[in-house]
Amino acid sequence: MSSPRVKVLVPHLIERKNSSEVLTMVTAYDSTFASIVDEAGVDLILVGDSVATVMQGQKTTLCVSMEHMEYHVQMVASVKPKALIVGDLPFGSYQASAKDAVRNAIRLVKAGAEIVKLEGGLHVQEAIEAIVRADIPVMGHIGLTPQSYHRMGGNKVQGREEGTQSGSRDRILADARAVENAGVCSFVIEAVPAELATEITATAQVPTIGIGAGVNCDGQVLVLHDLLGLSERSFKFAKAYSNLRQISLKAVSEYVSDVQHRRFPDATNSF
Ligand code: KIV
Repeated sequence: MSSPRVKVLVPHLIERKNSSEVLTMVTAYDSTFASIVDEAGVDLILVGDSVATVMQGQKTTLCVSMEHMEYHVQMVASVKPKALIVGDLPFGSYQASAKDAVRNAIRLVKAGAEIVKLEGGLHVQEAIEAIVRADIPVMGHIGLTPQSYHRMGGNKVQGREEGTQSGSRDRILADARAVENAGVCSFVIEAVPAELATEITATAQVPTIGIGAGVNCDGQVLVLHDLLGLSERSFKFAKAYSNLRQISLKAVSEYVSDVQHRRFPDATNSF
C-alpha cells in the first residue's frame, strides 16, 4: 500500500537540489485542473501569468492584472493541493518599486500562494530582496521573460549572443547569480541553450526549473494547455501528452448533433 502523499513545503524544494529526484511543475488556473495535476503528483502548481495567452486569448502576458492573479490563485488554492502553489506576479506589479513588489506579493500570499514568482535578473534584485525580507519565498525567472516581450522583440530564445547586453549569454549568467544572491528559493530558466542552463544549474545552490532549457535542470515546467494538447499553438520546447483539443471537439460536436436530432436528453436523463 502506498503511503499518503505529504504536502510539499518550501524547505523540501531546497532539499531537492542535491537529490536525484527531478522537480515537476505544471501550470493550472482553476480548481478542476488544479485537482487533476495535484492528483497526478506534481511538486509545484504554477498559477502563471500565461493565463493571458491560454485562457484570456491574449497575444502577450502584459495585460494580466493583480486582480486576475488573485482570482486564479484563489481557485487553485481552494482544492488545498499537496503541491506547492506558486503565484506569478504580473507585469506592472513589481517593476516600479520594491514597495509595490512587497505589497503585491502579500496580496498573492493572502490569496493562497505559497511562493511568488517574478521575471528578470539584475534589474529585479532589489524587488526580490524586499519580498524575501518580508518573509515570502520567491521563485526567480530568467532567460526568456515573456513580460519583456517588447524589449526582446517577441518571445525568442535567449543566451545565444556574446556580450553583456540584456539577453546575451553573459547577462543571463549574471542574472542567475543576481536572483540567487537576492535570496530566491528556486528559479525558472526559460528558452536558453541547454548547455547554458546546464552550466547555471551546476553552479546554482537552489533548484533550477527549466522550460526550453534542456534536460539537465533540477526540474521541468510546462504550461498545462500545451501538455494536454488543448492549445492551438505548438512549441519546439513543449510536448503534448494528449490531444484534448481534438477529444473535446469530438465530444462537443456529438452533443450538438444529439441535441439537434433529439437523441439527448433521453429517458435516462429525464425526470
Ligand atoms: O506563466 C507561466 O506559465 C510561466 C511558465 C512558462 C514558466 O511563467
